[in-house]
Amino acid sequence: MGDGTSETKSSNQMWGGRFAQGPAAIMEEINASIGFDKKLFAQDIRGSIAHATMLAHQGIISADDKDKIVHGLDTILSEIESGQFEFSRRLEDIHMNIEARLATLIGPAAGRLHTARSRNDQVALDFRLWVKEELQKCEGMLTGLIAAFLDRAEEHAETVMPGFTHLQTAQPVTFGHHCMAYVEMFGRDRARVRHAIEHMDESPIGAAALAGTGFPIDRHMTARALGFREPTRNSIDTVSDRDFALEFLSIASICAVHLSRLAEEIVIWSTPQFGFVRLSDAFSTGSSIMPQKKNPDAAELVRAKTGRINGSLIALLTVMKGLPLAYSKDMQEDKEQVFDSAESLELAIAAMTGMVRDITIRADRMKAAAGSGYSTATDLADWLVREAGLPFRDAHHVTGRAVALAEQKACELAELSLADLQAIHPDITDKVFGVLTVEASVASRTSFGGTAPSEVRKQIAWWRTRN
Ligand code: ARG
Repeated sequence: MGDGTSETKSSNQMWGGRFAQGPAAIMEEINASIGFDKKLFAQDIRGSIAHATMLAHQGIISADDKDKIVHGLDTILSEIESGQFEFSRRLEDIHMNIEARLATLIGPAAGRLHTARSRNDQVALDFRLWVKEELQKCEGMLTGLIAAFLDRAEEHAETVMPGFTHLQTAQPVTFGHHCMAYVEMFGRDRARVRHAIEHMDESPIGAAALAGTGFPIDRHMTARALGFREPTRNSIDTVSDRDFALEFLSIASICAVHLSRLAEEIVIWSTPQFGFVRLSDAFSTGSSIMPQKKNPDAAELVRAKTGRINGSLIALLTVMKGLPLAYSKDMQEDKEQVFDSAESLELAIAAMTGMVRDITIRADRMKAAAGSGYSTATDLADWLVREAGLPFRDAHHVTGRAVALAEQKACELAELSLADLQAIHPDITDKVFGVLTVEASVASRTSFGGTAPSEVRKQIAWWRTRN
């Protein structure tokens, strides 16, 4: 806690007209957002320049005042960018810090900037611009991650590995196919990002405090200048709405969950017991006590970031729940959640992209595991349906007996003799051995979206045209 003593003596310069005394120190402490909303400085300045330009264009302020304002704001931008700007907590937030500095720089003309505007639409604008830019950044990063997976999928379109359900060996798949599952997930995330950008592409500025304004402003002009498709359509909703932040957090949460599942697989696959992959030195750490260890720290941290991101979504949903229209100060609590999640998500995507590109695939280990655990039992059952004309349920039963026998003999299905198999069902011929290998198994799965290398290559080609 700051002492705030010397700064709380005078009444606030922005609304001092009505208030005789300055805020109590604790009030300043709970009220101030400058500690985190200074991140919005560039958006705030862009918004103010667009607003001032429009005010002058509409004859609401003079061209001369507009020029002073724009020039002053440009100066402030370079002061902040070069680290010379002194932020003051007494001035509460980024909006008032910038406006106060503008007054020092250009004098009374600064007071005209806030005509036909309120901090309510101002903060809605700044934050929306920030979230929109962040989503655009995420879109690019997801494209990079998808590209990394497409390359690995191409490289390993034929590499067999066990496919799992319940983390028990189920059926052989290819590593390329497994990679493409993540391409689908991150592709959906990217589509959600694009949709959200489109969704939030409306300019809040000009809604003023909540009711709009009597000044003859041109909201279409500011919307255009700030790169929005159009202005928002209801001034009350505009200053009450944080859906764009919630959408960002929900998209981030879903994406983080995808990243976390991948992280978990990397953790499992890199254990000596699985040994499917070898982590590069760049994305692992050693142990300070156990020299043999190589720990998947990056993957674990990606997995953990998901907790923070999901927590932020719940936090902001809870802040917004039950808020009466329109603006309430509760909404100031939106920013830290979004900023923290954005940082975590960017880090997680970047770390994952690096890991996916760097990781060594141990095809021999994958293949050995793919062939164990009776992974081709379904192929035997399918063969009985196809070649011996059995109903699938009967074929399932016969295959179950074959598995039990192999288990008894401690061997794989393909290692049973023809006599053993014929003792279970007389129609089995030696042709059956052709379907019991993992390669034959994956090659046979040619249904649309299936794991056959030919099918995986088709899906890779489809995704290559979707960037
Ligand atoms: N710092 C505030 C926020 O982030 C700006 C808006 C303040 N508006 C107000 N009427 N107090 O929400």
